Amino acid sequence: MPTVAGTLARLIHLNGPPGIGKSTLAQRYAAEHPGVLNCDVDVLRTLIGGWREDFNRAGTLIRPAALAMIGAYLASGHDVVFPQMLVDPDELARFEAAAAEAGADFVEVMLMDTEVASVERFHRRTGADPWHDHVRAIVTELGGDELLLRTHQGLVALAAERPTITVVPSLAGEEDRTYDAVLAALADRTLRPDTKGSTLDRVAWPVRTERLAIRPAVEGDADATWRFRRLPEVGEWITRAPTNRDDYVAQFLDLGRLAKTLVVELDGVVIGDLMLKIEDAWSQAEVADRAQGVQAELGWVLDPAHGGKGYATEAVQALVRICFEELGLRRVSANCFADNTASRRMMERLGMRLELRTKQDSLHRSGRWLDGLGYALLAGEWRARQQA
Ligand SMILES: CC(C)(COP(=O)(O)OP(=O)(O)OC[C@H]1O[C@@H](n2cnc3c(N)ncnc32)[C@H](O)[C@@H]1OP(=O)(O)O)[C@@H](O)C(=O)NCCC(=O)NCCS
Repeated sequence: MPTVAGTLARLIHLNGPPGIGKSTLAQRYAAEHPGVLNCDVDVLRTLIGGWREDFNRAGTLIRPAALAMIGAYLASGHDVVFPQMLVDPDELARFEAAAAEAGADFVEVMLMDTEVASVERFHRRTGADPWHDHVRAIVTELGGDELLLRTHQGLVALAAERPTITVVPSLAGEEDRTYDAVLAALADRTLRPDTKGSTLDRVAWPVRTERLAIRPAVEGDADATWRFRRLPEVGEWITRAPTNRDDYVAQFLDLGRLAKTLVVELDGVVIGDLMLKIEDAWSQAEVADRAQGVQAELGWVLDPAHGGKGYATEAVQALVRICFEELGLRRVSANCFADNTASRRMMERLGMRLELRTKQDSLHRSGRWLDGLGYALLAGEWRARQQA
């Protein structure tokens, strides 16, 4: 899958002391983000003949190959997560340059615990990875705990030097919370616009929920959506309500609009559609580049023949999850006429927060100026709800 349109592919570097959880979290990140390569150099090194006899040499041999692999994968528009302790700024610069060369963003997350806890965690490290014994032997040979402390201090100094690094506390025995904190750090990153691919291409479609399938709309969905969009009770609250099929199809096929449209299927039949419009946040001029493509406006329509069964809620819930988990957005929002009770109720069911009430600011096609409501949800709020 190519990268998100409106975003760059990302090289996500998970840095931190040995035993802090980098490899575990990288594995989990890749498992939960289809298409992401987990480039774990420690695993790659064990593919080289004789690695057990000369662990360091295997590392030296694999690193340029890993760099080339990372570059090629990023250049194809896909994200790479790279769990590797790098203390030396020059070494880090090589990976940063590989990302830049591939036109990708370099995202640095450092997992950290206190000095004492890092040393303890190194000794307590369990797991079946066959290279742990080698690393232990090397650490012992090079100074044991002294080396671990120096390494820790080196990483702290590196984080202080590089404001681009986001330090995430790694909580011993709390993998879920640490993982969520890494996701939050990644979601806060700027997603920069580019022209490659489509925004929706990053997601492995169709996304299936308990009862539904959601996928990007294609031209052939025009008639299926016209079937319910032509109904007056559906047109009542939405922005456009063409009264004849040709006008509707012309509107549906507008490429800009089609690229933001998803359809919702029940047993292979289209029963609704969704809008996913990725946009920039408002920002002051000096930081405008960091506000690009970080949020989305959502919209929805459900065939009334299938109303009242929770299908719209189920579909929009999945859409919100996609926005936060797969697209790394930091905020989603939606607006409606205050009189659109069904939409309001749905947003409230989804835990969206009412943050805007407007007075007679919106002109309905009946000629009446109506009140409006704006709801939103932040990635952090959504995560907190998942954990509650
Ligand atoms: C907004 C819209 C999508 C909501 O449709 P909906 O049928 O009310 O929403 P759902 O499919 O999620 O169903 C929820 C209803 O089914 C009930 N329900 C039954 N089974 C359910 C389940 N398993 N899960 C959740 N709700 C369930 C809920 O209680 C709720 O009813 P209530 O609001 O009376 O309490 C629909 O009214 C619509 O398309 N409107 C026109 C277009 C529109 O206004 N778009 C938005 C513009 S801002």
